[in-house]
Amino acid sequence: MATTKRFDVRDLALAAEGVRRIEWAEREMPVLRAIRERFEREQPLTGYRISACLHVTTETANLVRALQAGGADVVLCASNPLSTQDDVAAALVAEYDAAVFAIKGEDNDTYYRHIEAAVDHKPHLTMDDGADVIGVLHAHRREQLGEIIAGTEETTTGVIRLRALERDGALGFPIIAVNEAKTKHLFDNRYGTGQSTIDGIVRATNLLLAGRRFVIAGYGWVGKGVALRARGMGAHVIVTEVDPVSALEAVMDGFQVLPMSRAVEIGDIFCTATGDKSVITREHFERMKDGAVVANTGHFNVEIDIPALRSLAVETRHARALVEEFVLGDGRRIYLLADGRLVNLSAAEGHPAAVMDMSFANQALAVEYAIAHAGELDRRVYAVPDEIDREIARLKLETMGVEIDRLTEAQARYLASWDEGT
Ligand code: ADE
Repeated sequence: MATTKRFDVRDLALAAEGVRRIEWAEREMPVLRAIRERFEREQPLTGYRISACLHVTTETANLVRALQAGGADVVLCASNPLSTQDDVAAALVAEYDAAVFAIKGEDNDTYYRHIEAAVDHKPHLTMDDGADVIGVLHAHRREQLGEIIAGTEETTTGVIRLRALERDGALGFPIIAVNEAKTKHLFDNRYGTGQSTIDGIVRATNLLLAGRRFVIAGYGWVGKGVALRARGMGAHVIVTEVDPVSALEAVMDGFQVLPMSRAVEIGDIFCTATGDKSVITREHFERMKDGAVVANTGHFNVEIDIPALRSLAVETRHARALVEEFVLGDGRRIYLLADGRLVNLSAAEGHPAAVMDMSFANQALAVEYAIAHAGELDRRVYAVPDEIDREIARLKLETMGVEIDRLTEAQARYLASWDEGT
């Protein structure tokens, strides 16, 4: 159990509501629950300090519970200033004895102060969603690098950064790239972001998607999920891409593919999901239709050039909570959702618990694996071992009551041979 009681959260009086919602999410997280129950019996994390920098949601709270059940001493800070659920942060402190540093809407200084507080915990293991804790450790807490057994990384953007660190020979400890597990990105990135991004846009605006032109920038797993679900809501979906293979996939999945410079002339709703910066820029805003809605679902708020939008505006105001109206010189209005921060977590509740069940099962088992194999890991970025990935899929199917076939011995032999007859 955690021994610290340090925290910085909005209001501990919100804890009771947080507990109710954490328990509700738990109903949809049977794989993580099974891991928590095993951890309780086996105590594989006893004596280890974990600094986790994740979106502070009901699902994350259930991950923290599993880690604590395994014996870990966990400190949690937010991985985004707008995604924190204040009732969950309060519940974790007041009811689950976790140290939490996270307040929804915190400014940049507070955000980084909270990350420093998590690093002050002197972790043996780090857990990141976007590599911010690892960034701080490598930038100015280097004396701690040697004490860290391993870190895990939850998201595509973070893994890209950590691979860059590895390429430069600068990675200070081993990383397990949870995002790369099939039971993570094929479900969380695709179906989780797909549903929760639409949820965020609709909760923020209450717009009807049917009949609207919905432009999605990027056709990775996240873009695929958003495109699929926007089509399901009756939108005409347009994809923009820089990668020819992904663009071809979008065409053959039945979507219109256009360069952003043309999409801006016809789009009603725009959503960026590329992981790169400057995807929607000044030249695009200059040609958007009156009333265009612009949102981002990538990890960082760099995909939309918000300073350019601000500089073009003659007037701004909040049309609704999380919907900022920019009136341009010619009278056109553009609506930016949630300050360009990931709309699924800022305007909705992030991915539903049923997919986070698998993502966080990967996190919990990756930490257990890192402890068990500490001596064998180099300062490299590792995939989640295939056995863990397959076991999570097996458990998830079991909890869903879905049975599958098994290879017969003859079939297995056939697949393993090169000379058995065709
Ligand atoms: N990332 C996306 N959705 C999330 C959620 N519900 N909880 C934690 N991290 C998330």
